[in-house]
Amino acid sequence: MHLRNRHKVTKAVIPAAGLGTRFLPATKAQPKEMLPILDKPTLQYIVQEAYNSGIRDILVVTGRGKDSIVNHFDHSFELEAVLAKNKDWSQLNEIRSISEKVNMFYVRQKEPKGLGHAISCAEAFVGDEPFAVLLGDDIINTQPPLIKQMIDVYERYQSSVVGLLDVPDEDVSKYGIMAGEMVEDSIYKVEKLVEKPAVEDAPSNRAVIGRYVITPKIFDILKTTKPGKNNEIQLTDALMELSRHEDIYGYAFKGERYDVGDKFGFVVANLEFGLRDAKTGKQLKEYLRKLDLDRF
Ligand code: UTP
Repeated sequence: MHLRNRHKVTKAVIPAAGLGTRFLPATKAQPKEMLPILDKPTLQYIVQEAYNSGIRDILVVTGRGKDSIVNHFDHSFELEAVLAKNKDWSQLNEIRSISEKVNMFYVRQKEPKGLGHAISCAEAFVGDEPFAVLLGDDIINTQPPLIKQMIDVYERYQSSVVGLLDVPDEDVSKYGIMAGEMVEDSIYKVEKLVEKPAVEDAPSNRAVIGRYVITPKIFDILKTTKPGKNNEIQLTDALMELSRHEDIYGYAFKGERYDVGDKFGFVVANLEFGLRDAKTGKQLKEYLRKLDLDRF
């Protein structure tokens, strides 16, 4: 075991530089990571998950047209002055709080060459430490937060960990799929990872979803990872290579996951967050009870 793996996980990387083509035209001039789920941008839920997991240093990988991300986590002097003048302390606290609690860092991925390439842009920020990765379009609702649970697994095994979720056959070809043996409840030792396989080639239904804890060895590997599926540098391919050098574990979590980079996932997330919200929940339930579905 490398001594360097014995660091604590204190940093997170959020890749948010993708083009969001599944969400056009909404994503033509605004990042999909800033589309709101109820009243907060997707990215804010993700930053909150990292914060609630004890992480204070967060790097967002951004790209062209993503400046609103940087502005959102900064102070907004005009808005804050108006809210203070109106003595709207709760709103003021709400818009200020997250940006004051975490140290946000940004790096630009100059071209969206794939998730693996986006991660390689984080090397200078991460240095020689293990780090968390939270995809900018995956909202995960677990208690404790999923990335906290995965950091605990990392600390016990001193090895990289990928988040796993069982997906139905028809969705297998959308994900990186894992083959491996269960070593204890919910934890698998990864033997193989395949990026977006056809269902007949998939080794299981266990998909790697948007949470990872990775050792810094990945940066050396990414330097020589060739473009794979869709001609993009795939994180799955780099992780597969990492597994030839170090053990990797999979953590099958229990809880809700919303793929908000996908239209259906986005609508479901808004509906369920709306149903749970103290202000909109009751009204929305009544509306849905009375809704005549045959009208559509
Ligand atoms: P996705 O594949 O879901 O994002 O990547 P995408 O490419 O924007 O989506 P579509 O298929 O065109 O609709 C998952 C996460 O990785 C980031 C995305 O921003 C998203 O949060 N990503 C992806 C990057 O940061 N850089 C890339 O080159 C690709």
